[in-house]
Amino acid sequence: MSAPATPELRRGLLVLGAVAAGAAALVALTWQAAAPRIDANVAARAEAAIAAVLGSVAFDNRLSATAQAPDSPAARQAGVEQTWVARQGTTPVALVLQISTADGYSGRIVLLVGLTPAGEVLGVETLAHRETPGLGDFIETTRSDWLGQFRGRRLGAPPAEAWRVQRDGGAFDAVTGATVTARAVTGALRRALVYFDTEGEALLQPADPQAAQP
Ligand SMILES: Cc1cc2nc3c(=O)[nH]c(=O)nc-3n(C[C@H](O)[C@H](O)[C@H](O)COP(=O)(O)O)c2cc1C
Repeated sequence: MSAPATPELRRGLLVLGAVAAGAAALVALTWQAAAPRIDANVAARAEAAIAAVLGSVAFDNRLSATAQAPDSPAARQAGVEQTWVARQGTTPVALVLQISTADGYSGRIVLLVGLTPAGEVLGVETLAHRETPGLGDFIETTRSDWLGQFRGRRLGAPPAEAWRVQRDGGAFDAVTGATVTARAVTGALRRALVYFDTEGEALLQPADPQAAQP
């Protein structure tokens, strides 16, 4: 049979409970206070990345107004999460796809791909990843130009089956010691281009000039 709790023990437990509750409240308050700033930072980074994958393409529409989260089987299969259309007047000049893959060494990698209306890669940026610093983080454009090898390429040049790393018989360089990361990104880009082949035309419809009126 256990001994009854002494008054000291009860007091100790009460103090401990109060400290834990105080700490939890502090964390919650800090999180609440920081959340808008975190959201704004995430949005600013996404906007900068979108601008980066469009390279020198000129456009005059508000990209955020074109954001769509496609929900088709093709989009799900390709990991396409979000799309934006850049226009000059009513003419579409580029498409941006946000895609993700779970094939990274440490799980999910989120990428942005800018494409011309002909499906040529304008640029690729990594939005999020958890690959190993110093080994798998070559997919950050601030660390290496590895993603630059995809610029100017499209499905067909090279052919779909060559959208793999050289180790797997494809056309693209990997990074020795980090082939898993390179393979994941190359595969995700191949799937994005296959998706573009299927649904790109529908996404790139010219804007309705009536709808564009304020
Ligand atoms: C601690 C640790 C972290 C690693 N991080 C990565 C990584 O971020 N990306 C990656 O592709 N491989 C990483 N690897 C290596 C993979 O296990 C695998 O060996 C490698 O991707 C194969 O590429 P290779 O055939 O060019 O050597 C890591 C290995 C260890 C032990």
